[in-house]
Amino acid sequence: PQPHAPPNTAPEPHSPLALPRRPRRLRASPALRDLVAETRLAPSDLIAPFFVIAGSGAEEPIGALPGVSRLSVDRLLRQLERGLELGVRAAVLFGVLGAADKDPRGVRAADPQGPVARALREARRAFGSDLVLITDVCLCGYTDHGHCGLLKATPRGVVIDNDSSLAALAEMAVTHAEAGADLVSPSDMMDGRVGYLRGALDRAGFTGVGILAYTVKYASAFYGPFREAAGSAPQGGTSPDGMLPPRDRRTYQMDPRNAREGLVETALDEAEGADMLMVKPALAYLDVLWRMRAATPLPLAAYHVSGEYAALKAAARAGALDEASAVQESLWAIKRAGADLIITYYALEAAAKGWLG
Ligand code: PBG
Repeated sequence: PQPHAPPNTAPEPHSPLALPRRPRRLRASPALRDLVAETRLAPSDLIAPFFVIAGSGAEEPIGALPGVSRLSVDRLLRQLERGLELGVRAAVLFGVLGAADKDPRGVRAADPQGPVARALREARRAFGSDLVLITDVCLCGYTDHGHCGLLKATPRGVVIDNDSSLAALAEMAVTHAEAGADLVSPSDMMDGRVGYLRGALDRAGFTGVGILAYTVKYASAFYGPFREAAGSAPQGGTSPDGMLPPRDRRTYQMDPRNAREGLVETALDEAEGADMLMVKPALAYLDVLWRMRAATPLPLAAYHVSGEYAALKAAARAGALDEASAVQESLWAIKRAGADLIITYYALEAAAKGWLG
């Protein structure tokens, strides 16, 4: 035996196999791998979500979302600035109210003095057009029953009434446009809301304010932590007289078993004038994202939702996953499947720690 023979090498002599193609050649070094990488992720691909509350100097950690807090407007501005420094140039804002400020019709959704409208004005003053400001348009954080639309009693029980909800959503969208939003993002899943909002914005003079539609939004268990963060869980149940609303969102959000239906929603939102489309959640619906990518030329966003974030954080904290690589792999997968943009609670952390690439 040779004294310096490395262990476990193939027996000598051997002649190379005649393999016409060896995919391993392009995996030999980080530089080669980067050279042929099909997917790139930059801070400018990310949209950071924020929960905005009234008051000042307030930062309320959210138990279910480690590292995420509800922020008063002044604290929000610091985070937006930090995002800008890291290259994250878009944010989506969710307003959070106390129970005392909610009512059956969610009237505070269109309050020009509410947390979102105030945040828009102050962020616009501070950052001008450097920052893309997006707002969630939905009633669930503003209604006492926690549904995304308005209720109506019918002979079949209490339902979420599609058409009367549209006017309330449009008022909310116009309030956000007046306060300086670049894009409004309806997440309520009422039929016809994109066209209705487009009309209302145009009539109010906001022809330049765009719509990022939650085109395909599933009735998902992965929104659990968000509902804790926003206090927006649907209240309801069954009662013999049918006077309670449904306890879940399945009469308006999509059935997780359906993918083709996503193409129906895609065609509708395009026809109604949406500027960008969204799929939500992300990782469990990459097939839907892929189909939509083929069906629409519009920019496509995916929402890596609260439950997806919380699951990664929990697994990382339990020592079961390496967080950096698990987050990077998740975000790459979402882009690879066809997303141009990703809304994620990891936006600032991933940008700060260099988990993109
Ligand atoms: C409001 C809304 C929800 C989310 C975004 N907008 C919650 C819901 O539909 O219950 C979820 C976002 C997340 O889980 O991160 N309708």
